[in-house]
Amino acid sequence: MEDLIVTGGLGFIGSNFIHHIIDSRRDLRIINIDSKGSGSNPANVRELRGNPRYRFVKGDIADYTFTRKVLKNAHVLVNFAAQTHVDRSIANPEPFFESNARGAFNLFRAAQERKVDKMVHISTDEVYGSINSGSFDEESPLNPSSPYSATKAAADLMAQAWNITYKLPVIILRCTNNFGPRQHPEKFIPKAIIRALNGNEIPLYGGGTQVRDWIYVDDFCSAIGQAIDRGVAGQVYNISAGNEMSNRAVAARLVKQLGGPTVRLVDVEDRPGHDFRYSLNSEKAHQRLSWKPRYSIDDGLAMTVKWYRENISWWKPLATEKVLSGTPWKERW
Ligand SMILES: NC(=O)c1ccc[n+]([C@@H]2O[C@H](COP(=O)([O-])OP(=O)(O)OC[C@H]3O[C@@H](n4cnc5c(N)ncnc54)[C@H](O)[C@@H]3O)[C@@H](O)[C@H]2O)c1
Repeated sequence: MEDLIVTGGLGFIGSNFIHHIIDSRRDLRIINIDSKGSGSNPANVRELRGNPRYRFVKGDIADYTFTRKVLKNAHVLVNFAAQTHVDRSIANPEPFFESNARGAFNLFRAAQERKVDKMVHISTDEVYGSINSGSFDEESPLNPSSPYSATKAAADLMAQAWNITYKLPVIILRCTNNFGPRQHPEKFIPKAIIRALNGNEIPLYGGGTQVRDWIYVDDFCSAIGQAIDRGVAGQVYNISAGNEMSNRAVAARLVKQLGGPTVRLVDVEDRPGHDFRYSLNSEKAHQRLSWKPRYSIDDGLAMTVKWYRENISWWKPLATEKVLSGTPWKERW
């Protein structure tokens, strides 16, 4: 049985990926490395306690001594570890540099030294910046606008350089906005669901006109699995599900799922540097990774609303007034 190292597996996508692999790949054993920092939640993997195919190691990838040690004998590595809350990156960018740039740098160095067979680095559509019409492909220039996306872009460039200079077998996946179970209540869709379940309005930054392309998290997890099996070292693959819509349109779909007109939408002030539209062309992933999304946006939203309704004990401790604030970038984090 081979070891698959996952960094950042206590977070939203990493934990969904771990569940996906445990359920679908009996040939792999998971080692989950996480600093237990912001975005992490041990409850995301509580079902795996005692599972012989799962092990947790607490540690910070910004610490090179730790990172080098933990990658000894690593075969395959998937890096999710990052500071991801864009609003917080505006208020306090330094931890973003430490995890997203220095941490990724340490992983590339250690993976090269330890001669891993394959590394998948998880990146984001936000590295391309905003686009008014058309869609970015993998050759589009990087043009980040927030401290979060700038540190993610720095990691992507290092990954490419480590592949060219040191032949590190690294693959970059740039994905659009994920949603689904276990996403922190600070993010748009869980915040909207929880506020509605609490009888509060759903806040829309700057009128809710910003356009995002939404993907159900399990579809992204299957794309990562395909990248491990079929991805070519040094290549970038965009991952999107073609569910492009304004935040207001997503909120309206949620209102339907949540039971209709008693749920209200409210416009709030826009956050600084808010990108207007993200859009990816993911034809390359369809062709070369043989990957296609399975879930429609409405099926994904229905499964997500059901999960938050059924898992109140999961989100209740996280859903503080500050986290559910309509203007979180004004808070101190
Ligand atoms: N959520 C999205 O919509 C989305 C979209 C595209 C790409 N991504 C990327 O996917 C990855 C996962 O995102 P997420 O939404 O699951 O994030 P998350 O915030 O839910 O989880 C991130 C995890 O990384 C861990 N971590 C952070 N810094 C660390 C460090 N220095 N050492 C060890 N662990 C550390 C945290 O403790 C947390 O458990 C990120 O790289 C993000 O940039 C996310």
